[in-house]
Amino acid sequence: MRVLVLHGPNLNLLGEREPKIYGSQTLAELDHEIAEAARELGVEVSCEQHNSEGAIIDALHAAREEYEGVVINPGAYAHYSYAIRDAIAAIAIPTIEVHLSNIAAREGFRHSSVTAAACRGVMSGFGASGYVLALRALGEILAR
Ligand code: DQA
Repeated sequence: MRVLVLHGPNLNLLGEREPKIYGSQTLAELDHEIAEAARELGVEVSCEQHNSEGAIIDALHAAREEYEGVVINPGAYAHYSYAIRDAIAAIAIPTIEVHLSNIAAREGFRHSSVTAAACRGVMSGFGASGYVLALRALGEILAR
């Protein structure tokens, strides 16, 4: 099983960006943790980070040729990008949304995710573990 992990805008600054909310782990460290978990789960994983909406959409389109599933943290795009939502719906491979923080417990504008509706499910508020849980869930979905 091949899975693409897509990190959205500003996640390249993990470790220095609002550490009280997002923790002190850098993106490289997070990707390492994801890769370790994937190895244990027998999943082949690739991680990418893009700041722009178009690059995320291009990566989703490309994923349909190469991967069986996607784990995406759309960052703030989750709250308003109908284009990313449509791309997730268009590719028709199972996609799970992840947020490091619990978006329901934060500012009002973060409470809704327009991209989540196109996903199979959402992990929000579990930090790095959310990505690992999403990989496990994808494994179960794809084994059905
Ligand atoms: C985030 C939550 C978003 O609201 C925010 O804009 C991010 C990160 C998270 O992982 O908790 O960039 O997606």
